[in-house]
Amino acid sequence: MCDFLPGILEKEWEPIEKKLELVKPFAKAIHVDLLDGKFAPNTTFLDPEPFKKYKDAFLLELHMMVKEPIDYLKPWADAGFRRFIGHVEHMSDQAAFVAKGEELGEVGLAIDAKTPVSAIKVPYYDLDAILVMTVNAGFSGQSFLPECLDKVRQIKEKDFTEVIQIDGGVSDKIIKEACAAGVSRFVATSYLFNSEHPSRQFAKLHNAC
Ligand code: DX5
Ligand code: ZN
Repeated sequence: MCDFLPGILEKEWEPIEKKLELVKPFAKAIHVDLLDGKFAPNTTFLDPEPFKKYKDAFLLELHMMVKEPIDYLKPWADAGFRRFIGHVEHMSDQAAFVAKGEELGEVGLAIDAKTPVSAIKVPYYDLDAILVMTVNAGFSGQSFLPECLDKVRQIKEKDFTEVIQIDGGVSDKIIKEACAAGVSRFVATSYLFNSEHPSRQFAKLHNAC
């Protein structure tokens, strides 16, 4: 069974709250993008505090496209986040990130579109999820990069039995191929929110699975 998460990449609280309210009737989990401007040339809202209001409404997942994601774990866990996916590209100690993340919830590592699978240095059995970017991290609304699914296949071949997630350019058109490659969790931002009817789009993703 596949899982679909609305993604939120915003600079201010107001549009974030708008989107949370919009998807509350049909989504159980939310993917929140965190960008510090050092990882990629973009920034997002960096205050965990107001999310507290939504900690019972959703499973809150944090996608950490930042330098040293470990520094963000505690404050965002205190606000109610329960799944932490940190990028390896600017992470100095993967084992330390995973160990601390495990104490606070589910933990995963993410690789950007140009990063090879070999950049993941911790044993796979320590991870609840691996996120493979299917666009270059930093912005929503980019086109899906099908070649990134090769990395999903490589991870699968290494007998990773937990969740492989993709993020970037997700639409109903790519679900079949991604599922066949081994993806079981998807993030969708513009596909949902650029539509007048996010709930219909959400259903279309499920139906494509
Ligand atoms: C990109 C973010 C993605 C992005 C996805 O850096 O991690 O979550 O918001 O947006 P779409 O679905 O529009 O490609
Ligand atoms: Zn993301």
